[in-house]
Amino acid sequence: MTTTPDTAASTPPPTADWVDPLAMQRDPYDTYDRLRDLAPVVHVPALNRYLVTTSDACRAIESDQETYSARAGGAAATMVRALGGTPMLRRDDPDHATERGPVNPPLRPKRVREAWAPLFERNAETCLAALLEKGPDEADLDHDFAAPLAAYNLVDMLGLPMADPQDVRRWSHTFIEGIGNIQDDPDIWVRCDAAQREVDAVLDDLLPRLRAKPDGSITSALANAGLTDDQVRANVKLTISGGLNEPQHMTTTIVRALGDHPEQRELALSDPARWPAVFDEALRWCSPVGMYPRETTRPAVLEGFRLPAGAALGVVVAAANRDPSAFPRPADFDITRPRQPHLGFGSGVHRCAGHWAARIAVGEIAVPLLHQRIPTLRTDALRAGNWSGWVFRGLTDLPVTW
Ligand code: HEM
Repeated sequence: MTTTPDTAASTPPPTADWVDPLAMQRDPYDTYDRLRDLAPVVHVPALNRYLVTTSDACRAIESDQETYSARAGGAAATMVRALGGTPMLRRDDPDHATERGPVNPPLRPKRVREAWAPLFERNAETCLAALLEKGPDEADLDHDFAAPLAAYNLVDMLGLPMADPQDVRRWSHTFIEGIGNIQDDPDIWVRCDAAQREVDAVLDDLLPRLRAKPDGSITSALANAGLTDDQVRANVKLTISGGLNEPQHMTTTIVRALGDHPEQRELALSDPARWPAVFDEALRWCSPVGMYPRETTRPAVLEGFRLPAGAALGVVVAAANRDPSAFPRPADFDITRPRQPHLGFGSGVHRCAGHWAARIAVGEIAVPLLHQRIPTLRTDALRAGNWSGWVFRGLTDLPVTW
């Protein structure tokens, strides 16, 4: 594994002109297998970028941010446009570290367990009551439980009690739509601009108050770290976008996977110590963040393949997480597989800041509670539940019954 150019020993990546982005939107996993069989990095003209699909190659990129930059440029610029500013995720160190540092303390495991877990439990009870009220003929786990729960939890962690969780949900989905707006759809930008204005109006009021009287929230940590207002705002909007969509998708993915594998569901129910493995395996098996961008700052050689300076890369962690050289029988959902690190939360300096919050809120609290209180919870075979997306992937709905 080398990233320094050695042109004599390297070849250009192969090109895959058969890739169909619409088919990937429906189900990307066949495409990922074909790309991985070709090479660890493949040029994909339909996406105007190189896709990186093996575990080793994705990790090599994350271990060398001087060559593989997260800075906005080319296709990566959509995040800056969507959020109306540059967040930590589009900066390299040392600038990235200045903004990442403040959000770490409120998201450390001890803080999450002491400060946030009781709120996550309260919110899960509230959403469970709403789900039960909907009843076994009409309940949709995505709309009636996973999405509102992720919004309530995020409102608490960000310290935005004045914001309606429904609005936070809409902002998050709008920002995610914008981050994926590689096609430059103007209607999506109009919605992003409106969501930015709404978040800014909340922050106009909140930031001076938090500077006068700090609290334990993520927003307070950012506001009191000596950052500019623009830096604080961009990172609050980043957290709104990433902190809601992914926990929402994880909740429904886990319930669906356990419903399709009743023997594994029984294992988890009979031995609660297995819930963390359930979360981890679901995150590997269907990663909610499927791909994120990087760009070469100089000519590079990745796993023997030559890349020019300024190459737009898609780090396809969802494909790396099904790399058979790292995970035997990778397409199987199997909570008993030996523990093996994967890339569902990314790796390197940008590794997800909220991973403990997500593990605890979804994997230790919400999903076990659902199964304990509704022991016969299952996917409703009479109503459809649809997977969608590849950059971000999850169920758009999950009708359930009991
Ligand atoms: C299961 C749920 C989640 C998944 C799968 C997930 C996944 C990811 C991934 C893959 C990245 C790295 C992206 C890249 O390198 O380009 C990331 C970064 C990030 N995530 Fe998460 N995330 C989740 C939940 C959360 C939550 C709940 C929060 C906040 C409370 C959060 C906040 C962040 C932040 C702030 C970053 C940027 C970190 C940096 O640039 O240093 N995430 N997440």
